[in-house]
Amino acid sequence: MAEELRIVLRNYGKIDPLNIDDYLNAGGYKGLEKARSMSQLDVINEVRKSNLRGRGGAGFNTGAKWSFAYNTGAEEKYVVCNADEGEPGTYKDRIIMENDPQSLLEGMAICAYAIGAKKGYIYCRGEYPYVVEKLNVAIQQAKDKGCLGDFDIEVRMGAGAYVCGEESALIESIEGHRGEPRFKPPYPPVKGLWNKPTIVNNVETFANLPVILEKGADWYSSIGAKSYPGTKVLTLTGDVVNRTFIEVPTDTTIRQVIYDFGGGIPNGKKFKAVQIGGTSGGFIPAEFLDTSIDFDSMAAIGATLGSGAVFVMDETRDMVDVIKRITKFFEHESCGKCSPCREGTKRMHEIICRLTAGQGSADDLSNMERLGRVMSVACLCGLGQAAPAPFLTTLKHFAGDYNAYLN
Ligand SMILES: Cc1cc2nc3c(=O)[nH]c(=O)nc-3n(C[C@H](O)[C@H](O)[C@H](O)COP(=O)(O)O)c2cc1C
Repeated sequence: MAEELRIVLRNYGKIDPLNIDDYLNAGGYKGLEKARSMSQLDVINEVRKSNLRGRGGAGFNTGAKWSFAYNTGAEEKYVVCNADEGEPGTYKDRIIMENDPQSLLEGMAICAYAIGAKKGYIYCRGEYPYVVEKLNVAIQQAKDKGCLGDFDIEVRMGAGAYVCGEESALIESIEGHRGEPRFKPPYPPVKGLWNKPTIVNNVETFANLPVILEKGADWYSSIGAKSYPGTKVLTLTGDVVNRTFIEVPTDTTIRQVIYDFGGGIPNGKKFKAVQIGGTSGGFIPAEFLDTSIDFDSMAAIGATLGSGAVFVMDETRDMVDVIKRITKFFEHESCGKCSPCREGTKRMHEIICRLTAGQGSADDLSNMERLGRVMSVACLCGLGQAAPAPFLTTLKHFAGDYNAYLN
């Protein structure tokens, strides 16, 4: 396997995650110490200058997001870590939290200092009860050592709904309400948890921060792709020899990820497609394998980096069969608050089922394409907006698979 560059996973396998002394001996909490020696605005500007962009999917500049909350001047603010990780095929946040929970806590404390928050929540997916146990031990140790100062962190568990990874649905869920997205604007940095300014960042985003503060924005922004610097933790699944996780600079190409790190396609088969960024990611054919994985390069080919899930498919895979499972997922996970998503995800699955039952027509495909385009602009949140992407991209790149089902 080619060599990784580990920033987020710098302590992986080197420290006992349940012993804070190991983290401190490895240089832990130096980033927070440095942050506290700076003014709040200087910390925000340093993070903004590093061009660290969110690792949860939307790719927003982290420092810029923090400045919105800071600028409100409100007395009460919150820091929330999105550890919902509901994206099928993604487990990078679990790896970070299980192996180096203090780096997440330190990242959250840096954010809390910068924006002026005293309370933080980690919203962890319900399927990770063992991770919650580790986080609670880590929080207690950090409190006992006085590392967090007057910043308090509490863990809240989700209950298995994919939509609760969407930041405003997540906030509703922490408040004890049904997990449904809010209308935006206002965005959470201005009006979030209990209508107070709230920063929601992903686990991987937070875990980058201690190192950025310690080594500086210039060091960080010189790594990987210029417009989306640093590294990305990816999880490789599907028809690939090494089904594992890796951390690589963001200018690594898809081909390098699959062949140099993933070891290629097993059993001498040929590559057919790869879906990056989870269930709602676009499908990428062989002609785009030399694209780098950074956020903007992926967007330029109609794909996404998203959460960093890399799902590889060999030549034997039928794209229509794959899409049938994906449309079922979205039909099940739609929260039902807005009608384009509630109805649209249902109709999409219905049409694909009709097609695979041998009762589909060319009109079905063009209707589904139109429906997908409407959903991508009319749905209330990213779930419904992105749900048609797998269908639209497979129809574009693998039309032959669909035509095979037409009478
Ligand atoms: C349906 C849906 C699910 C999402 N799931 C997650 C998730 O599991 N983890 C995550 O960090 N972001 C998720 N997001 C993105 C969040 O809304 C938000 O953009 C992110 O937590 C912001 O953090 P970042 O700026 O550090 O990336 C999801 C978005 C949507 C629309």
